[in-house]
Amino acid sequence: MPKLPFGRKSRPRVYVTRELPGDALAHLREHAEAEVWHQDTPPPRAELVRAVEQIEGLLCLLTDNIDSGVIDAAGSQLRIVSTMAVGYDHIDVDACSRRGIYVTNTPGVLTETTADFAFALMLSAARRLSEAERAVREGRWTTWHPSFLAGQDVGGATLGIVGLGAIGAAVARRARGFDMRVLYCNRTQRSDDEELGVTFNSFDKLLGESDFVSVHVPLTADTRHMFNEDAFNRMKPGAIFINTARGAVVDETALLRALEGRRIAGAAIDVAEVEPIPKHDMLLRVPNLLVTPHIASASVATRQRMARMAVDNLVEALQGNTPANCVNRDALAGKSGAA
Ligand code: GLV
Repeated sequence: MPKLPFGRKSRPRVYVTRELPGDALAHLREHAEAEVWHQDTPPPRAELVRAVEQIEGLLCLLTDNIDSGVIDAAGSQLRIVSTMAVGYDHIDVDACSRRGIYVTNTPGVLTETTADFAFALMLSAARRLSEAERAVREGRWTTWHPSFLAGQDVGGATLGIVGLGAIGAAVARRARGFDMRVLYCNRTQRSDDEELGVTFNSFDKLLGESDFVSVHVPLTADTRHMFNEDAFNRMKPGAIFINTARGAVVDETALLRALEGRRIAGAAIDVAEVEPIPKHDMLLRVPNLLVTPHIASASVATRQRMARMAVDNLVEALQGNTPANCVNRDALAGKSGAA
């Protein structure tokens, strides 16, 4: 068992809001006393508030709402909130920064897996795979008909990528293999866009020219509901919308209208504003929507890598170091005991 840091009488206490895949928990337990929430659904708020009291590290998932109330309940000894996700919109980062607490995420290790899934959604929506499968199971495959379940071609089409970060760029690389023309919009133009074979555009122009629009922005105040009625109206009639980012970048009422009115041909979403989508939500009734339960990064190997990275970030902070994947490094600079 590793030695305790100099001067420590006991191992640091941490709370982990779910069982983790692979060797992540075993590794964490070499360094800390870990209490783990063993159920598959998130700990209820009262449980979370109780469990974080006096901990030094919190390892959470994107389904846990880590707001200032939770952070206050933990106490001033809390050093790190480590999420097993690349997106950290479920954490009040400002509240953490004010208290000198590191916030870390798991970038990079899920990039290719998530890009694979965005591409899978695009191909599936284009060729109406979920409608086709349903038709077969429901006994509606009666014959071969020239227009039965005819969809759209992906090869040679125009793909618009909204947000060309690591995942967006990985989607663009895949699109090259399909001879797609790739447009992108971003806060700033990337210096490697020529190399990637992608063309910088305004959001409006991208919407107007793309056969497929795939969104890869983080959820922030600026991106919340960026896909609203106006955005869907600007898309090409017959275009397909793909979202593997966050549900709240989309105004779902506007998406529902666009799908019902066939303003766009279809959509494929892995994320929703409220997750899980309630069983009776109107969105689940439209046939031209393909929906999956937030699994874009869900390959066995990637989930193990994410869990291990989240633990490594946590352990780094407990050992007094700045964790590699600290997202609030700048905000913490100058605060004593952090960054
Ligand atoms: C998944 O959505 C993630 O943010 O890792």
